[in-house]
Parts: sequence; structure tokens; C-alpha cells
Amino acid sequence: MGFAQLSGGRSRRALALALCVWSLISLSCAARLTDSSRQKLDVQKHLNRLNKPAVKSIKSPDGDIIDCVHISQQPAFDHPYLKDHKIQMRPNYHPEGLFNENKVAEKTKERSNPQAQLWHANGRCAEGTIPVRRTRKDDILRASSVKAYGRKKQRSIPKSADPDLANESGHQHAIVYVNGDKYYGAKATINVWEPKIQQPNEFSLSQLWILGGSFGEDLNSIEAGWQVSPDLYGDNNTRLFTYWTSDAYQATGCYNLLCSGFIQINSEIAMGASISPVSGLRGSQYDISILVWKDPKEGHWWMQFGNDYVLGYWPSFLFSYLADSASMIEWGGEVVNSEPEGQHTSTQMGSGRFPEEGFGKASYFRNIQVVDSSNNLKAPKGLGTFTEQSNCYDVQTGSNGDWGHYFYYGGPGKNPNCP
Ligand SMILES: *[C@@H]1O[C@H](CO)[C@@H](O)[C@H](O)[C@H]1NC(C)=O
Ligand SMILES: *[C@@H]1O[C@H](CO)[C@@H](O)[C@H](O)[C@H]1NC(C)=O
Repeated sequence: MGFAQLSGGRSRRALALALCVWSLISLSCAARLTDSSRQKLDVQKHLNRLNKPAVKSIKSPDGDIIDCVHISQQPAFDHPYLKDHKIQMRPNYHPEGLFNENKVAEKTKERSNPQAQLWHANGRCAEGTIPVRRTRKDDILRASSVKAYGRKKQRSIPKSADPDLANESGHQHAIVYVNGDKYYGAKATINVWEPKIQQPNEFSLSQLWILGGSFGEDLNSIEAGWQVSPDLYGDNNTRLFTYWTSDAYQATGCYNLLCSGFIQINSEIAMGASISPVSGLRGSQYDISILVWKDPKEGHWWMQFGNDYVLGYWPSFLFSYLADSASMIEWGGEVVNSEPEGQHTSTQMGSGRFPEEGFGKASYFRNIQVVDSSNNLKAPKGLGTFTEQSNCYDVQTGSNGDWGHYFYYGGPGKNPNCP
């Protein structure tokens, strides 16, 4: 399988290179190291960097390979600042809840269900290892360059603070947000769907953003949710993802574990793995809950998936503004429209239905909360909403006892009112 093949290819290439070097320093040699073979070498080197030795590998029904990697050999430890880092196996503090999760779960049992990952059908990783989605050659080749793989192409922050720039680069949003205070985390339960993507270079995601700084070149961001991204994963499955950057998507950060940074401690949940099942129109509804919070003691940003899985943390030193606190929290959907000027993509956001269609048809975020300076989960105060073109994708907020602050969001993209 994978590894034997990969290292075989690698040594053959190394041999060819060595022959090249040892033979004449000649034009034929230079010619043999064409751009394309140089690219192949780069791809191979990147694969060797990303894919760590596996204790065990599990083939998921969706075609993914999940490698169980020893916790101390995970990608994070390639980071020079983490060479001597002592892994923290649990957070010092956990935010106190506003909602009694079990009570909410009990009440909404008829209406929504907790989530699992598809690869669990074929095995589990042992304690002391973490599940890592294996990167394959094709994954990297779909990116515009080796360097671009696993990174966002452009700045894609909804600039609610600056609507003039909102249409930049085809990213479209339907979000709610809070700003104007110091925030130490955020939580949401997010309805899971599988929106249709018109073109492979587009994506559709539903997530929360923890933002620090202004929308300038040094914007800090931690993001988590679900996404459908054919270019990144090679299929149309809905996948759990995270993202971080400390310089507005320029040089730092990546999706999932595709660069060194996030330290994972959990052996059950794989970043980038498919979520299954997903919600159906007028059918069963499924949701995931995500909590990201800053540990008041060490200052690291922790992430929890569902009620049971503390996934790991982003060390505080990765960030500048977020080393202190967040200045803005956003929740909602984002798609990329890559149609030429004046036309709209039919890529869906959420379920592909507009908010007014409500439960079972439109996608929702419920129990959205922020973490305050005393490490308490609180209802967000002064929620704003933002969308570039509400005829394409829209958002509607509400609140009640069970769902706290919630909103429905999304839409079909292209339609008679969004040509
Ligand atoms: C993803 O969906 C699009 C249409 O929505 C389809 O054309 C494409 O073949 C699908 N890709 C895969 C890998 O299934
Ligand atoms: C974005 O572009 C669309 C279509 O070009 C336009 O109708 C809309 O007003 C723009 N939105 C903002 C916030 O500039």
C-alpha cells in the first residue's frame, strides 16, 4: 500500500538524482531535471513531511486512509517552537455551560441526532495515537501548487466591518457576528448537510470564526465547522475541518493538520474526515457541536467536538492578537463563486434552501454562545447579521428557550432573483 510505493518511488528518484549529480554536470542532466520532475520531487517531499509513520492504518468506506500516528509524532512537532513542548493532555479549565447539554439533547432527541465519522465503520485508533487523514499525491496535485495545498487561496473573511470590500474574490457569506468586546471562545451546534458544489474549485462551508485584530494583514483567525471542498478532498463529502492563520491567510496556517500548529490529543476524531450521516430534506436532522475556548492558565485555544471529544489545542504562541483574546466572533456559511463577472454559481450554502423555510429544510446554527473573561458560556449580546447578496444566500436570527440564540442561513445561489 501507500508507504511502500511512496518510499520506492522516492528512492528511485533519489537514485536518478544521484546518478545525475555523479555523472557529468551536463546539459542532458539539467534537461532531465525539468520543471515537471522538480515538481514531482516537491510533491514527494511534501507527502513525506505530512504523512507520519502509522502504527495502524484504517481504510474508510469513502476511500480515505486514516493513519493512527503516535501522538508524539504528529505534524505539530515539526514546528521549531514545539521541539521541546510538553503535550497537555487535558485543558486546565472548561467553560461553564449556559445550557444543560444533556437536557437539550434529551429534548431535541426526536428532532436532531449526534454525529459520528464514517471511518469508524472500519476500525479505531488506540489510545496514545491520533487519527490523521492520509494525504495522497492527487490531493496535492489538485492544488494550484505544492505550497498552496491545504491553505486558503485568498483572504476569505467576511468583512462585515467593511462592506465595500465584501465582494472581493467571489467569497460570499451569510453570517451572524458579535464584536466590540473581548471574547475567549465560542460555541455552536451546527446542522449538517451536503450542499451541491457547481465547480470543483468552489467550496461551501458552515463554521465559526474566532477573530483577533483588524481585517488587515495580521488578522488572526481560528475556524472550525464542516465543509464540502472537492479540490481539497477529491470528493463531495461533508467533512469536519479546522483552519487557523495569524497573518490573514498569507504565510501561516492551514486546514486541519496540513501544517504544524494544532496539537491533537484525541484518538477518535480525525480532522478532515467525512461526517455521516448528513441531514435530509424533511428527513432526519443531524448536527455537530463545536466549542473553541482559551484556557485561562496556559492561554492555548482548545477545541471540543460534540459533548465528549476534546480534540486538542492551538498553542498561544502561534498568534499575536489571539494570544490575548478575540475581538470578534462570527458564525455562518461561506461559499466561493468562481463564475465570471456578472454570473452566479449554483453552489449551495447550508442545505441550499433559504432561511424562511425553517426546520427540516433550511440549515441552522443553534445555541450559539460566547465565552467571557470569567470562562463562562454566555448568550451573545448585540448580534449583527451580514450577507453580500441576500437573494443568493440569506440569514435569519431568532431565540427561544431550547435553542437559545439560533439562526437559519443559506440558499441555492443562482436562481431567478440571483442570476
Ligand atoms: C461532485 O458533484 C458534482 C456536481 O455537483 C459532480 O459533477 C462531480 O462529479 C462530483 N464529484 C465527485 C468526485 O463525486
Ligand atoms: C456585491 O455584488 C453584487 C452583484 O455584483 C451587488 O448586487 C451587491 O450589492 C454587492 N454587495 C456589496 C455589499 O457590495
